[in-house]
Amino acid sequence: MEYKNIIVKREDKIAVITINREKALNALNDETVNELQSFFHHSWGDNSLGCVIITGAGKAFVAGADISELAQCDVQKAIATSMKGLYLTKTIENFPCPVIAAVNGFALGGGCELAMACDIRLASDKAKFGQPEVNLGLIPGYGGTQRLARLVGRGKAKQMIFTGEMIDAHEAHRIGLVDEVYPVEELMNKAMEMAKSITSKASLAIAVAKECINRGLDINLSAACDLEKINFGAIYGTSDAFEGMKAFLEKRKAEFKGK
Ligand code: CAA
Repeated sequence: MEYKNIIVKREDKIAVITINREKALNALNDETVNELQSFFHHSWGDNSLGCVIITGAGKAFVAGADISELAQCDVQKAIATSMKGLYLTKTIENFPCPVIAAVNGFALGGGCELAMACDIRLASDKAKFGQPEVNLGLIPGYGGTQRLARLVGRGKAKQMIFTGEMIDAHEAHRIGLVDEVYPVEELMNKAMEMAKSITSKASLAIAVAKECINRGLDINLSAACDLEKINFGAIYGTSDAFEGMKAFLEKRKAEFKGK
C-alpha cells in the first residue's frame, strides 16, 4: 500500500507507523486521517500482525488536527471532520491487536486524542501533552473530552481542557496519561522491546483480554466480570491455551499459532 503522509515499516509481527508531515509538526490533515484509517482497515484481518506502534517524525508526535484545513470548514464539514477522527480513534481502540503510542514530542489536540485511543502510551522525556483547542475557540473533537476524563479523572481533564496548557511527559506520567517515560533516544527501542514481548505471547488471548478490558470499563463490575467469565471459557477452548498449559507442564517454551 502506497502512502504519502505515513511511513509503515514491518518487522516480523510488528508494524511501525511514522506520521510524516514534519513541516506541519505531523498535524492530521484529511489525507493523513484517511491513510491511517486505510492502514487499520486493511490490516484488520491480518493474523500475522501482532502489534502496531504509532510515532511521529521529527520533534512532534502529532500537533493536532490540521488548523489550516480546519479553518476552511463550515459547521457541517466540522462535524464530518470530527466524525472521521472519532471513527479513526474508535478503530484503533477496537483493533484486535495492541496499538502502542510512542510519543516522541508534541501530542496536542488531535495528537493527544490519537495517543489516548492507543492501548499503551510510552513517552519520551521531550514529549508534551495538551488539549489546546480552547485557544482556537474550539473543543476537542476526536474524543478528548471523553477519553481524557476517563484516563486522568474529570478534575485533571477539565484543568487541561479549560486552560489549554501543555504538560510535560513526567506530569503526564504522574496523572496517568502516559504509562512510561524514557529518554528520547531510547523511546523506539523500548517500544519495540514491549511490542516483541507482546508478540511472543498468545495473540488470541491478547485480543480477547483487550476486548474484555475495553468493554468492561463501559459496564458495571458485575456484568464486566460475567463478560470475563464467558471469554475465559472461549479462550480456554483454543489450541493456543492447550499448547500454553502443556508447554508449561513440559517445562518448554510454548509455540503459539494464533488458533
Ligand atoms: N495544524 C497545522 N499546522 C500546524 C499545526 C497544526 N495543528 N501545528 C503546527 N503547525 C505548523 C505551523 O503552522 C508551522 O508551519 P509554518 O512553518 O508553515 O509556519 C509549523 O507547523 C511549525 O510550527 P511552529 O512554528 O508553531 O513551531 P513551534 O515549535 O514554535 O511551536 C507548537 C510548536 C507549540 C506545537 C505550535 O505549533 C502549536 O501551538 N501548534 C498548534 C497546536 C494546536 O492548537 N493543536 C490543536 C489543533 S485543533 C484540534 O486538534 C482539534 C481536535 O481535537 C480534532
